[in-house]
Amino acid sequence: MCGIIGYVGGRPCRELILTGLERLEYRGYDSSGFALLDEAQGVAESVRAVGNLGELRAAAGANGGSTSTCGLGHTRWATHGRVTEANAHPHASADGSVLVVMNGIIENYGELRQELQDAGVVFASETDTEVVPQLIAREYAGDLAAAVRAVLPKLGGHFAFVAAHVAEPGRLVAVRRECPLVIGVGASERFVASAIPAFLRETRDVVLIDNDEVVVLEADDHTIWAGAERLPARRAERVEWDEDAAEKGGYETFMLKEIHEQPAALWDTIGDRMRPDGSVELPGLGLDDATLARVERIHVVACGTSYHAGLVGRYLIEDWARVPVHVEVASEYRYRTCLAGPGDLVLGITQSGETADTLAAMRVARERGAHVVAVTNIMGSQATRDSDGVLYTRAGLEIGVAATKTHTAQVMALSLLALKLGRLRWALTPAGALDLAEELRRIPELLETYLASPAPAQVLEAAAAYADRPFFLYLGRHVGVPVCFEGALKLKEISYIPTEAYPAGEMKHGPIALLDEGSPVVVVATDGHVFDKVVSNIQEVRARGARVIAVATEGNEEISRHAEDVLWAPRTPALLSPITSVVPLQLFAYGLARARGLNVDQPRNLAKTVTVE
Ligand code: G6P
Repeated sequence: MCGIIGYVGGRPCRELILTGLERLEYRGYDSSGFALLDEAQGVAESVRAVGNLGELRAAAGANGGSTSTCGLGHTRWATHGRVTEANAHPHASADGSVLVVMNGIIENYGELRQELQDAGVVFASETDTEVVPQLIAREYAGDLAAAVRAVLPKLGGHFAFVAAHVAEPGRLVAVRRECPLVIGVGASERFVASAIPAFLRETRDVVLIDNDEVVVLEADDHTIWAGAERLPARRAERVEWDEDAAEKGGYETFMLKEIHEQPAALWDTIGDRMRPDGSVELPGLGLDDATLARVERIHVVACGTSYHAGLVGRYLIEDWARVPVHVEVASEYRYRTCLAGPGDLVLGITQSGETADTLAAMRVARERGAHVVAVTNIMGSQATRDSDGVLYTRAGLEIGVAATKTHTAQVMALSLLALKLGRLRWALTPAGALDLAEELRRIPELLETYLASPAPAQVLEAAAAYADRPFFLYLGRHVGVPVCFEGALKLKEISYIPTEAYPAGEMKHGPIALLDEGSPVVVVATDGHVFDKVVSNIQEVRARGARVIAVATEGNEEISRHAEDVLWAPRTPALLSPITSVVPLQLFAYGLARARGLNVDQPRNLAKTVTVE
């Protein structure tokens, strides 16, 4: 959460900082700020504002010929301290000499703050961050990098920050510990940011930083330090990302664009991993085939939408490979008695590779001797460093806070793993595995056809008719259960309408009491062996006056007799239906939020990456 950026170089950087922050806005957007430094004035300009980047631009006003060539900026997702201008970054030391922008949490900030206050330091905000510039200012003796190095061991928690000192206006010092931070290397200029898109337009040469390294950035140089030791120069890696990925490319929102990018995300996730005979190669897992075949149990740990992908994965792995799978939200798993051990495979599913709870759960399992694999979308992310192997989704950059293409890519990646395991363990015959491989390979195209058809517009229109409803119940059975969980989460996230998602068979044990005349009930009723059971549940809710919106398999005419609205999904084998049937639900949530006039890319209180517990 939170996005940070810094620039030092030869160009006036006000606009570079503001544009960079706009590219990081998906990480948090409740308040923001920037500061610029120069030789003459020290701090040449400092602006903070509550609200998104539009508010910051409004508060900052026109450029006015700013010539500063060094600056830092921040877009916030509040952790410690309310959303106020005083709590927005950059934070300064009491004497105004040190400025800091930070992402993450200083866990021992309470003690540090107390010590500083006892020593007479006056604080201006309620944040944990403010202790950092205060401490640096006290350590400072003419060398910012030395002061940061001295302060670093005192800081507990996980964070990334960039610091500047008014007496050194051509220099930034940056540090990361388990929160992301990358350096962009340009011609006589250096960027530092939470994520590459912040400077992708300016440079594609990127240097990665490891935990607890201190980086000193100047226009023509950057040096990396581990404690007092200067590390050898590190080669920049060239990023080949598509710049358009950070643009809306003609769509009204990132979320809608990303919904439409799902076929490409699925194609890329299959990529070169599937052979013509249906066998699957996943070389990054860090396990040879013989060991993989002997895996006794699989634990999946994840949060949010990634957790729902894990729930789908359980059906696939248990059915195709006959390995027991336990799926749990990471924030619970990490604090339970962990029974994973050698012989177990733990999958940490996290699109960002940064979610604090997922990283912690992976760590707990790894300490117990389990083989931990990160299923992630971000190369070089913390999850890839904290695991024994990696299974990449290849969804490309996702900016919309409500995850869409990364979710379906996760389910596809898990399908590949399930298929591989099924073959290795002889739970699938070669012919059976080949059939499934072919069905999987068809899915991107099926989805492409669906997205190009009139169906999505029909879903958006159907959704708009429900815009004033105060509550939605989502029901499903079997693989439809995680699909309805995900559909309900999407609606909650972007339309703020309360939802309840339940296994349809469990509905009569409570949620049915919520229904009233006209209550909308979304039912995942795709074809499969539980279809008739789902229809019975539909009858039960209709008997209570509910209005049914069914997600059904294209060509199933029967469903129209049981539902007021039908959202069609492309036909696939039942176990693969979660990849396609979630798409109409993404669109349904989108249509409703849009009809309510909400900002779907920046839903309130949420952030795309959650680096706090
Ligand atoms: C946040 C995001 C969700 C995401 C979840 C887990 O809550 O808003 O979209 O599913 O974090 O994120 P991860 O990066 O671990 O998949």
